[in-house]
Amino acid sequence: MNNDRHLANIALIGFMGTGKTSVGRLVAEQLHFDYLDTDEVIQSETGRSITEIFEADGEPAFRALEVKVVMELADRKKTVISTGGGLPVNPDNLASLKEHSLVVCLWSSPDKIWERVRHQGHRPLLHDKNPQAKIRELLAVREPFYKQADVLLNTDLRSLREVAQQVVHQFRLESSACR
Ligand code: S3P
Repeated sequence: MNNDRHLANIALIGFMGTGKTSVGRLVAEQLHFDYLDTDEVIQSETGRSITEIFEADGEPAFRALEVKVVMELADRKKTVISTGGGLPVNPDNLASLKEHSLVVCLWSSPDKIWERVRHQGHRPLLHDKNPQAKIRELLAVREPFYKQADVLLNTDLRSLREVAQQVVHQFRLESSACR
C-alpha cells in the first residue's frame, strides 16, 4: 500500500449479509472508534427507510444519496464506516473512502449470503422472485469492485469475532506502516 496514505478510519465494504454491521460494531468497540453505517445516515437524514426511498424515488436516487454521504465523511477520524453493499460500485465512492480509510472487504459465498439474509425483509434488491439468482448475479457484477479493497477477508469460515480481530490486526499493521 502507498505509505503516503493517512488511515484515519476503517471502511467496511462488501455484499449484503457479509457481516459488515456486526463486524463494524465489534471493531469500533475494540479500537474505541465511532461507528457509522451509511444506510443509517441516509435514513436519518431523509427520515425515510431504504425501502421507501427505492420504491418512491428509484435506485438512482438512492445511489445519489450514497454519494452525498460519502462526501460528508471526508473529515471523519477514528470511525468505523460500514457501507451499503452497492456503494463501492461507484468508483468515486471507493476513491473517496481510500483517501481517509483502510478499505476492508468482507467476502462471502452466495450460499452463505443467502443463509444470512433469507429471513430479513429490509433489502429492496432482494425483493425478487428468485433472490438466490439475484444474489449470484449482483455478486458477479460487483466482484471486480469489491476486489479493489485494501484487504479482502473471507467470512465464510470465521466467526464474526474472528473477522473483527483480523480487521483490527490489519488496521494496526497498515496504519503503523503509513505513519
Ligand atoms: C444494497 C445494500 C444495502 C442497502 C440497500 C442496497 C445493495 O445495505 O444499502 O438495500 O445494493 O447491495 P447492506 O449491504 O448493509 O445490506
